[in-house]
Amino acid sequence: MKKTRVVILFGGRSAEHEISLLSARNVLAALDRDRFEPSLIGIDRGGRWHRESERTLAAATGDPRALALDQAAPIVGIEEGLAPPAGDDVVVFPVLHGTFGEDGTVQGLLELGDVAYVGSGVLGSAVGMDKDLAKRLLRDAGIPIVDFAVVTAAGFARDPAAALAAAPALGYPLFVKPVNAGSSVGVSRVTGPSGLEPAVRAALAFDRKVLLERAVDAREIECAVLGNDDPVASIPGEVLVHHPDGFYSYDAKYVDPDGASWKIPADLTPAAAARVQALAVATFRALELAGMARVDFFMERVGGALYVNEVNTIPGFTAISMYPKMWEASGLSQKDLISRLIDLALERRDARRSLRTGVGTP
Ligand SMILES: Nc1ncnc2c1ncn2[C@@H]1O[C@H](COP(=O)(O)OP(=O)(O)O)[C@@H](O)[C@H]1O
Ligand SMILES: [Mg+2]
Repeated sequence: MKKTRVVILFGGRSAEHEISLLSARNVLAALDRDRFEPSLIGIDRGGRWHRESERTLAAATGDPRALALDQAAPIVGIEEGLAPPAGDDVVVFPVLHGTFGEDGTVQGLLELGDVAYVGSGVLGSAVGMDKDLAKRLLRDAGIPIVDFAVVTAAGFARDPAAALAAAPALGYPLFVKPVNAGSSVGVSRVTGPSGLEPAVRAALAFDRKVLLERAVDAREIECAVLGNDDPVASIPGEVLVHHPDGFYSYDAKYVDPDGASWKIPADLTPAAAARVQALAVATFRALELAGMARVDFFMERVGGALYVNEVNTIPGFTAISMYPKMWEASGLSQKDLISRLIDLALERRDARRSLRTGVGTP
């Protein structure tokens, strides 16, 4: 049987460049070599594509801050990096978290090239990265979200007081966060009016749009979704935050090894777990996602109300990442998960290719 070429893209122009190397290492390790032939492309911070060897990913363990691409790896043109060996099928697996990877930009490039790729398309990826647009679509679909308001850089520059006028109605404490960031970069918890302006300025350093959100006292529940037209949800998991920041901050995620712990399955009643799964699938559909996504929830400690917090269209695949672990707990091995994601990518490409692009006789 001819093997399908799988181009694993990693690195990228993002704050999560190094985390991506940890994820790519596991995607490569779980790739079924009987069916697939890997090809590794590292994208450096300048956006250049390098043909990397498996050694780069073999070395990608431990403290992410110490990881890097192999600078000596040859630079390749984008077209060359994606080119199939004559006649072979190619699927790109973008293991790129955050900007220029998870946000629809790489997906647009791959669409133009008519290349199959794992995960959501241009629209789903872009919407999934924009917490403001995602929340508006979820609200429209009747999916519970935490009350929020948006502050734009232009509005804040023109009239700061007017731009922040929604804050008192949301109440304190409240969360301020950049609309497009990730990894909790630029996120702060504000306990009173005097902290609001500095927090908004700090978040505006990362994005032109900032979210103000009512703070909920909640457990953090996550659920993995897999599929295209008929998505299915995994057993939910829970993130337990122990860090003194008091929320799942950047330090709690990546710096302090004891900042957080994970529990799969989450300790939920069967009814609550089923509701998480149903809302995860409804979220996937409302945002028109494809392939995979991790849907993150808040579950209020008092009363148990559930809210969708955000989606990750390219969830982590690191050794401690929830997405593959929740599937493992649901009975799907990492190897079968990666194979399934590649098959879903081919299915979507074939469906797209079957569409007519003109009105003439088909
Ligand atoms: N409205 C909120 N109420 C309580 N905690 C919040 C709220 N918004 C964010 N947080 C905390 O901040 C963390 C990061 O926020 P999140 O919206 O998930 O952004 P990111 O994309 O950076 O992960 C969450 O995991 C949670 O711990
Ligand atoms: Mg988050």
